[in-house]
Amino acid sequence: MDTKEKNSAFATAALPDSSPSLEQRWRKAVLTWYEYNKRELPWRNTKDPYRIWISEIILQQTRVAQGHDYYLRFIRRFPDVCSLAEASEDEVLQMWQGLGYYSRARNLHTAAQQIAQMGKFPNTYSEVRKLKGIGDYTAAAICSIAYEQPHAVVDGNVYRVLSRYFGIDVPIDTTKGKKVFAQIASQMMDPNHPATYNQAIMDFGALQCTPASPSCDICPLASGCHARQHSSQTTYPIKTQKTKITERYLVYLYLKHGENIYLHRRGKGDIWQGLYEPFILEFDHAPDDTETWQHPSLCSIIPHSTIQPVLKGLKHQLTHRRLYADCYIVQLHESVDIDGYFQIKETDRPQYAVPRLVSLMYEKIDGIILSCQP
Ligand code: ADE
Repeated sequence: MDTKEKNSAFATAALPDSSPSLEQRWRKAVLTWYEYNKRELPWRNTKDPYRIWISEIILQQTRVAQGHDYYLRFIRRFPDVCSLAEASEDEVLQMWQGLGYYSRARNLHTAAQQIAQMGKFPNTYSEVRKLKGIGDYTAAAICSIAYEQPHAVVDGNVYRVLSRYFGIDVPIDTTKGKKVFAQIASQMMDPNHPATYNQAIMDFGALQCTPASPSCDICPLASGCHARQHSSQTTYPIKTQKTKITERYLVYLYLKHGENIYLHRRGKGDIWQGLYEPFILEFDHAPDDTETWQHPSLCSIIPHSTIQPVLKGLKHQLTHRRLYADCYIVQLHESVDIDGYFQIKETDRPQYAVPRLVSLMYEKIDGIILSCQP
């Protein structure tokens, strides 16, 4: 055996004892990356499970930059579980306005009431997981970040990083996929630093291993990354299903009578439950003018009104739906009763939480009304 062979035999023999395992190297790379790239965020200066919970639910709705301001506003208004539990649903929805997925806000409210009943924020994974609206991800995030418990988070970022690095072909939207990824995430997580590691891997996915253009040239995990070696970064993670999108066509009439406008509150079983909106007609196709203006529900309204167009075909995307909205200002010459609708003073409008689409329309409407004033 020459010296080179001896050296390499020695190196191999010594490997199991002296060289770090894949998990150790992985954790070191992720944690070191985080040290230099960590985002300074308001919920990262607290161990309060309530605040961590709120931040996690907000971040399921929106990007960090927008979530930041929503978080601060929400926490200012509801600084603890009791203040949230005691608020009305309308107030909670108002604070959530614009974030979308309003069932999340309603679930937060219900869970706050559950916690208030319990007397303190639960501190085990199984109890936290039982709260309304809290799934595996949120329970793991709360328990790891607030209590340093070794539960691995698996969000979209983690799916992407793990599937690319290990070249995992199991689709993430299957039961098997969820199980496989949960197991690998758990294996790779640093059990000695669960709070830091979980936030580090999510930031790593959000900033470094991004969906469309990951920064592989400066990636500390590049040398072992399957997707990097096969130039297949954008094929991961694999999904079986494309989200099915349905289209809906909405016609809003901003009914005004004197200083009042008409609103209704959306009911159960459809989008925007609990939010308010002006008078609405709905179609499964783009309506022509005849269909709109000869709609049976308008026969008591239209003869006594002046109509002003605001916008046409405004496109608005929700998770499973594509909406197209037309909007008109309709000045009523006399007050009419409309089933399901009530009148409010126009100046009280901010007290009624509305979907983002409606607040965009309000902006347009206000511009038109202002420009018409002498
Ligand atoms: N995405 C959701 N929660 C996060 C967190 N705590 N840190 C980084 N990214 C996140």
